[in-house]
Amino acid sequence: MSKKVLIISYSQSGQLQSVMEQIAEPLAECNGLQCDFLEIRPEVPYPYPWSFYEFFNVFPEAVYLDGCPVKPVECDDNYDLIILGYTSWFLSPSIPVTGFLQTEQAKTLFKNTPVVTVIACRDMWLIAQEKMKTLLSGLDARLLDNVVFTDQGKSLYTFVTTPRWMLTGKKDGFWFFPPAGVDKKEIDSAGRFGERICNALQHDEECATLPLLKNMGAVNVNGKLIATEHIAHRSFLIWCRLIKKAGPQGSWGRNVVITIYTAFLLTLVVTVVPLNMLFRKLLAPFRRKALARAVHYYEQPSGK
Ligand SMILES: Cc1cc2nc3c(=O)[nH]c(=O)nc-3n(C[C@H](O)[C@H](O)[C@H](O)COP(=O)(O)O)c2cc1C
Repeated sequence: MSKKVLIISYSQSGQLQSVMEQIAEPLAECNGLQCDFLEIRPEVPYPYPWSFYEFFNVFPEAVYLDGCPVKPVECDDNYDLIILGYTSWFLSPSIPVTGFLQTEQAKTLFKNTPVVTVIACRDMWLIAQEKMKTLLSGLDARLLDNVVFTDQGKSLYTFVTTPRWMLTGKKDGFWFFPPAGVDKKEIDSAGRFGERICNALQHDEECATLPLLKNMGAVNVNGKLIATEHIAHRSFLIWCRLIKKAGPQGSWGRNVVITIYTAFLLTLVVTVVPLNMLFRKLLAPFRRKALARAVHYYEQPSGK
């Protein structure tokens, strides 16, 4: 076999980078495979940890897939397979990854190429992956598989631990909260996907349409979050339009609307969200089939 794989991602704290490294390890040792491991680098780096206003200032650009200028990637023009790692920012692919997918270089790289997406995020990635599918099909790429890693602990806990991590850089557990981020054991087990991809490439399986990573625990969809993501995204579209209209990034006008938005968001979280949870619990017995269908849809192509 003489094949080439591009493994490329954008990670701030290095968490997604570690996932990609685990996947890359067996591929680097795979017989007859050239494995190029690269990073997406924005021309102007994003902060990490973020200040409160820096964090919310990128909200509209992330949601509306504006992208940002990125440095050219030094790699070949075409690959047999691309493994693209991205994080979710406000239910959208992170801005640097969107920016990279909008470059002329990406048009050449992704055309007619099978792609495995790898996501490491808090736990809300469904809409981001829908947007990723649109970006990839715009590049005539072929989504072959999707692998997802989510932060440890229940949603209620990660609603605190993930933002705390993003805004302070602190990942440790405190009080009754678990540590932030993906469980290290899960990251360490990501090599199994690299092993499977190596084997598949040796048998030309990437040329067929069937996913390579099924029945490996690549994706677990939390059904409870499907409606939440849809409702949140609808409100994001409205608020992001308002925030954009208020002024450019960092402007006084934008920061005022962001302040109003976050106050609104907190009010929602303590009022509407619990009511919504109760309402959905009551409706659950009548919605089982519809929910199972939705879970099945989002699990594709690599679920179970
Ligand atoms: C601006 C911003 C917005 C985020 N929005 C989401 C989100 O909508 N859903 C989610 O699951 N995680 C979200 N996260 C968490 C990231 O997906 C990811 O877990 C975190 O940035 C760590 O990744 P990294 O250090 O490897 O880049 C967000 C992070 C940032 C910085």
